[in-house]
Amino acid sequence: MIKVIAFSNQKGGVGKTTSAVNIGAYLASQGKRVLLIDLDPQANMTKGLGIEEPEISIYGVLLGEQKIKAFPIRENLVLVPGSYGMSSFEKVKGDDLDKEFLLKEVIDPLKPKFDFILLDCPPALGLITINALAAADQVYIPLEAQIFGVDGLNKVLEIVEKVRKRINPKLEIGGVFFTRYNDRKILARDTADDLRELLKNKVLKTTIRENVALQEAPSLGKDVFTYAPDSHGARDYAKLTEEILQK
Ligand SMILES: Nc1ncnc2c1ncn2[C@@H]1O[C@H](COP(=O)(O)OP(=O)(O)OP(=O)(O)O)[C@@H](O)[C@H]1O
Ligand SMILES: [Mg+2]
Repeated sequence: MIKVIAFSNQKGGVGKTTSAVNIGAYLASQGKRVLLIDLDPQANMTKGLGIEEPEISIYGVLLGEQKIKAFPIRENLVLVPGSYGMSSFEKVKGDDLDKEFLLKEVIDPLKPKFDFILLDCPPALGLITINALAAADQVYIPLEAQIFGVDGLNKVLEIVEKVRKRINPKLEIGGVFFTRYNDRKILARDTADDLRELLKNKVLKTTIRENVALQEAPSLGKDVFTYAPDSHGARDYAKLTEEILQK
């Protein structure tokens, strides 16, 4: 069964894009057909996969001005690019009656072609993220395992609850997971333990370690499995994805 998964957290730099890219790449390596959609006006996912100045973007598609096109990344993995224009989405579409459902309408007809559709959200909980949550089956929340990293978690959980009540009753929290993890730092270990207590089995067992290959891969337009298949980053994302597949 096809699964649409959103990666969301209003805090910036916690690993949303890195996770969506590398989870997508691992799924593709296991023979799953995967579509990535870059919803962030920063377009980090698009740039990080080596797509420069694409002729269409998800913004144009959402406005109804462009026909959707997915760019090949590797076998089984394709991307619908993002664009800076997306920063106007809320201003341009904010008064539309169906404003929360524009992405869902784009995604629904694509579902027969894919096993997974992964949505990379911007670091904000505005209309773009609401569109992602309205279209998703599950949301995963990456957290940096520092005290400030978990600060905004309640806000994300609140929005998910609201969307579930009013817009998308089937939306589930797939889980939260720690990125840039360094278990030598006491603070990180305490934060992880506290959160496990609070959210129980919603905290994934796998943590993503701080790893330089994860940082370098996007500057070469690659996922970590292509760039450094033996790195900790590749191993951690493989393990995390296996855990997600059990959900
Ligand atoms: N486990 C890791 N080890 C080392 N560097 C990492 C790791 N995860 C992410 N990074 C780096 O940290 C930065 C932020 O990661 P990323 O872009 O995935 O976060 P984000 O949540 O998508 O950020 P934004 O909110 O701005 O979209 C990037 O430079 C990325 O390469
Ligand atoms: Mg990002």
